[in-house]
Amino acid sequence: MQPTITVQDLEQGYGKTIILKDINLTVNQGQILALIGPSGSGKSTLIKSIMGMLLPKQGQVRVLDTPMPNRLILGKIGFMAQSDALYQGLTGKENLEFFGSLLGMNQAKIHAQLDYVTGIVNLGPHLDKFVKDYSGGMKRRLSLAISLLGQPQILILDEPTVGIDPELRAHIWDELHKLAQQGCTILLTTHVMEDAEQADQLLMIRRGEAIAQGSPQGLLDQFEVKQIEQVFIKAGRNQDARLGSN
Ligand SMILES: Nc1ncnc2c1ncn2[C@@H]1O[C@H](COP(=O)(O)OP(=O)(O)OP(=O)(O)O)[C@@H](O)[C@H]1O
Ligand SMILES: [Mg+2]
Repeated sequence: MQPTITVQDLEQGYGKTIILKDINLTVNQGQILALIGPSGSGKSTLIKSIMGMLLPKQGQVRVLDTPMPNRLILGKIGFMAQSDALYQGLTGKENLEFFGSLLGMNQAKIHAQLDYVTGIVNLGPHLDKFVKDYSGGMKRRLSLAISLLGQPQILILDEPTVGIDPELRAHIWDELHKLAQQGCTILLTTHVMEDAEQADQLLMIRRGEAIAQGSPQGLLDQFEVKQIEQVFIKAGRNQDARLGSN
């Protein structure tokens, strides 16, 4: 079976500035991969490369064995960008209807999905409010609901849990695991170690490099620590030693 997402020897940046170096990853169908790293480490840059919004400076990105961007493949991806792209002057429900219609869904199909996607993020009671009156967390939740609308084969989520309380976060993770079991491939970014522990695979990025990569348990064993956070700290120290800085 072909992997769903592959990144090979990716080098990426903006203009002459190199942001990511030597990034390799493979996500198979039904797997969840979390990209974890500090602010500015290059997580969103990697997500944008996978979506084909940035073409690789070097190396390869393939989704469903196809170089990105590709319109057909984009139609199979539920994407949630780091900054919410929502219509402030429309209600939550109207936003869902609008984005559903962009996916080519008719109103009956959209409404059949509405309860499910808004239930996942617990937005049901707020659907008739204008988005301009939403809190930051509510906007994230609406963006997540929109990314789930078309029952995508692949979910690519840039910081889906920002501004989301622990109870709802747990509920969202239950749903992501269910979707993965049904064959959905999920790639997400996070700053939060609790999220990282839920993924099948972790890719830790620091200063544009992959400093550790593997399953949560595999990384705990490899670094001989008890918590994912400690893996990150140890791997970061190794990187500093290698790069000759502190
Ligand atoms: N459009 C751009 N033009 C130039 N530099 C950029 C651009 N977007 C991002 N960068 C730079 O690339 C680096 C990585 O940014 P990126 O957004 O990928 O980080 P991140 O890991 O997603 O951070 P955060 O956790 O804060 O979202 C940063 O130094 C940032 O300033
Ligand atoms: Mg980012």
